[in-house]
Amino acid sequence: MNWKDTPKTELHLHLEGAAPPAFIRQLAQEKSVSMDGVFDRNGDYQWADFLAFLATYEAACEVLKSPGDYQRLVAAVLEKSAQTGVVYTEISVCPDFCGGGDLGAWREYFDAMCQAADASPVETRFTVTAVRHFGPEQARITSAVAAQTAGHMLTGFGMGGDENFMNPADFAYAFDQAREAGLGLTSHAGEIAGPQSVIDTLDHLKVSRIGHGVRSIEDPALLARLADQGIVLEVNPGSNVALSVYPDWPSHPINALRDAGVKLSVSTDDPPYFHTDMVAEYDHLHRIHGWGASDFAASNRIAMQAAFCDEPTRTRLLTTFQEP
Ligand code: ADE
Ligand code: ZN
Repeated sequence: MNWKDTPKTELHLHLEGAAPPAFIRQLAQEKSVSMDGVFDRNGDYQWADFLAFLATYEAACEVLKSPGDYQRLVAAVLEKSAQTGVVYTEISVCPDFCGGGDLGAWREYFDAMCQAADASPVETRFTVTAVRHFGPEQARITSAVAAQTAGHMLTGFGMGGDENFMNPADFAYAFDQAREAGLGLTSHAGEIAGPQSVIDTLDHLKVSRIGHGVRSIEDPALLARLADQGIVLEVNPGSNVALSVYPDWPSHPINALRDAGVKLSVSTDDPPYFHTDMVAEYDHLHRIHGWGASDFAASNRIAMQAAFCDEPTRTRLLTTFQEP
C-alpha cells in the first residue's frame, strides 16, 4: 500500500526543523556562514541526543536572516507537504529567529511567509512558538508579537524547547496573553519529561492540544483526564523513536493511547532531522501498528476538528476525510 496520495493533515511541523539540509547548506554558502558541526559527512543534520538536537537546530537557524530566506523556506517546506499528500498544515515558527522579537521585523518576516503559503495548494496556518529554554521573559515577548499579529494565517501559539527547563507555570503569562488574543494553544509536554509535565501544562497553560504527550501513557489517571477533556495529542512517532523516547517503532504506545480513548493526530515534527516524512509515518503505522485507511481518516478528522482554523475551512476539509 502506498500512502502518498492519501489526504493528510499535519498539526505539528516546525518550520526551522523542516528545512532540508541542502537548503540550509545553500544559504550558508550564499552568505559565507560557517556551519561547522551542523552536518555529518553524509550531509545530514548531526546530533546525538535531545539537547544536541536542539543545539544543531539553533545553529542551522543562524543562516535564516531575512524575510526572503523565510519565504523560500516556507515554499520549500510546503512543496514537500504537497508531495506527501498533506492538504492542511500548521507550521510553527519562532519569532526569536526572525528579528529577535521585534514587532516591526516580525511583521516583515511573517508577510513573506504568508506570501509563500498563499502560493501553495496546501491550506496553511501558522502557530508562533516560544522556546522554553529561552526563558519566561522571552516567551512573553514572543507571545506579545503573536498577539499583535493574530488573525488571518496566524492562528496559534505554542512552546517547544527543553521540556526540563523550569515549569509550565512560569510560562502562564505568555499563554494567557496569547489566549486573550484569540489564538489556539498547544505546548510540547510528555515527550522528554514524564506525565507530570503534561499535568502541569494542562493545569497552568490551559491548552487544547499537546505536542507529543506520549508519556501520558505512564499515568492511567492522566489518560482518563485527556480522554475526558478531549485534549488532542499531536503524536510524532518517528521523532519519538529518533530521539530515543522509545527504543523502536514497535514499542511506541500510539495504539495504547488510542485504546485509552485519547484523541490523537499524526505529524512529523522535524522531518529531515529524523529521516522521516508523512508518507513514511503512515507506512510505519500501517506495517507496524496495523493502521488502515479508516484509522488514518479518523485521526485526520480528529486533527481537523482540533485545527486552529476558521469554521468554513474546517467544514470544507472535514469532507476530505470521510470513512473509506
Ligand atoms: N523543537 C523542535 N522540535 C522539538 C521537539 N521534538 N521537542 C521540543 N522542542 C522542539
Ligand atoms: Zn515539536
